[in-house]
Amino acid sequence: MATRKKAAGKAAAKKVAKKQAAKRPTSKMTAQKADAVRKSGVVTELPPPSTKPWGEAGKALDGVRILDFTHVQSGPTCTQLLGYMGADCIKVERPGVGDITRGQLRLYFTMLNGNKRSITIDSKHPKGKEILERLIKHCDVLVENFAPGALDRMGLTWDYIHKTNPQMIVASVKGFGPGPYEDCKVYENVAQCAGGAASTTGFREGPPLVTGAQIGDSGTGLHLAFGIVSALYQRMRTGRGQRVRCAMQDGVLNLARVKLRDQQRLTHGPLTEYSQHGEGVPFGKAVPRAGNDSGGGQPGWILKCKGWETDPDAYTYFITQAPVWGPICDLIGKPEWKTDPDYAAPPARLPRLRHIFNTIEEWTKTKTKFEVMEICNQHDIPVGPILSMKEIAEDQSLRDTGTVVEVDHPTRGKYLTVGNPIKMSDSVTEVKRSPLLGEHTEEILIEELGYSAEEFAAIKNSGAITPSGKKETEAA
Ligand code: COA
Repeated sequence: MATRKKAAGKAAAKKVAKKQAAKRPTSKMTAQKADAVRKSGVVTELPPPSTKPWGEAGKALDGVRILDFTHVQSGPTCTQLLGYMGADCIKVERPGVGDITRGQLRLYFTMLNGNKRSITIDSKHPKGKEILERLIKHCDVLVENFAPGALDRMGLTWDYIHKTNPQMIVASVKGFGPGPYEDCKVYENVAQCAGGAASTTGFREGPPLVTGAQIGDSGTGLHLAFGIVSALYQRMRTGRGQRVRCAMQDGVLNLARVKLRDQQRLTHGPLTEYSQHGEGVPFGKAVPRAGNDSGGGQPGWILKCKGWETDPDAYTYFITQAPVWGPICDLIGKPEWKTDPDYAAPPARLPRLRHIFNTIEEWTKTKTKFEVMEICNQHDIPVGPILSMKEIAEDQSLRDTGTVVEVDHPTRGKYLTVGNPIKMSDSVTEVKRSPLLGEHTEEILIEELGYSAEEFAAIKNSGAITPSGKKETEAA
């Protein structure tokens, strides 16, 4: 297996070399073309289209090596996505301990660290520092989400990294960007609160709410992955790495951007599609919580469906979009609303939204959420069944597309994870289990970094890759 991997590594390296050669002006290019490449900085000379069948021409990020210093969720989400795209993620973990979530949140760890290899290195040990230097020279991207200053305290400053490998991209997640909070440690809900999501989520009468989706952690990891891929692309022109930073506050704000739009609209008058407007409740100075009002400007609400008395998820989202108002009236048995001046036009409906949704609910309560979905979609009426995590876990179509994947793990057994949500026609994702702590230490040191068996034995005895200087006997 190791030989196969080595061969695959060599093949990938060859591919990268070929690609790099392709972007340099060659003798085959006309002098004019080469000049155009230099001037525009854009790589115009692509290889001829592959003749291999779709999905058999490797993966999108084959040959990209990631030095993965991430932990908990935001960083690991980013590197797992890069791994899904084919990058080789070498996850550096503290000997004996590893990512804190290995011990605290074991299933969480396994779901966020598939498609990675694990190497244990004490980054503060002199020998550990030497190994890290080799890794920095060997890899394309360093990704980290330590607390502010932690990477510098390890001696891995930008200046040092850039001097050691000028091509390396250094990508970081932090809680906040430069400013009054830049030194703070930040977790998911802190970011949701600081990014404007919590103040705009929940019911008007209640306190701010955080959402169940990890928009602070996974959302920022996604943003960082985009930054890294962009930096890799730019590097093809400039030949140099750069720093990529995503603050969780910024990532959440980017996802809540429509609420920032609403903040500006407020200075010009009330937000008419918010149900509080229809109810005659005045707006304050900031965007209020809007309950289940639709975010898209069309009135919407969550309505009970058949079985709601016993099933907490027997609900549907219902949007009263103007173009389908007629079919809605027919479906719910109110055809007269189509011509009634109190209901026919959208502005007339605004003060009556609560009554309208109560009436629609009388209809949805006679149907299951799936029946509502089926019936309404026949008339292009947008609705959304409220799916429980149980229903999602059991959904065959999500299994078929590889969005929900069952993975086998030697110590955990079978578990479900979320596969690659991005589907590509020529880069097929293979979801692999998360690594055991230090499972690939030997393989990486010897096969990737070129240490001899004797040197490896000496490193083991040095305490740089084993817990508190102890000799490592097996991967935990
Ligand atoms: N060898 C030796 N030391 C290591 C190591 C290794 N392989 N890996 C980590 N460490 C050390 C770090 O150097 C640091 O030491 P120092 O503070 O003495 O310099 C220490 O472990 C702890 O790292 P830190 O990142 O501060 O972890 P934490 O548990 O205290 O804080 C977070 C966790 C998530 C709050 C913090 O990392 C953070 O704010 N990250 C940025 C925002 C973020 O990503 N948050 C969301 C996480 S989902």
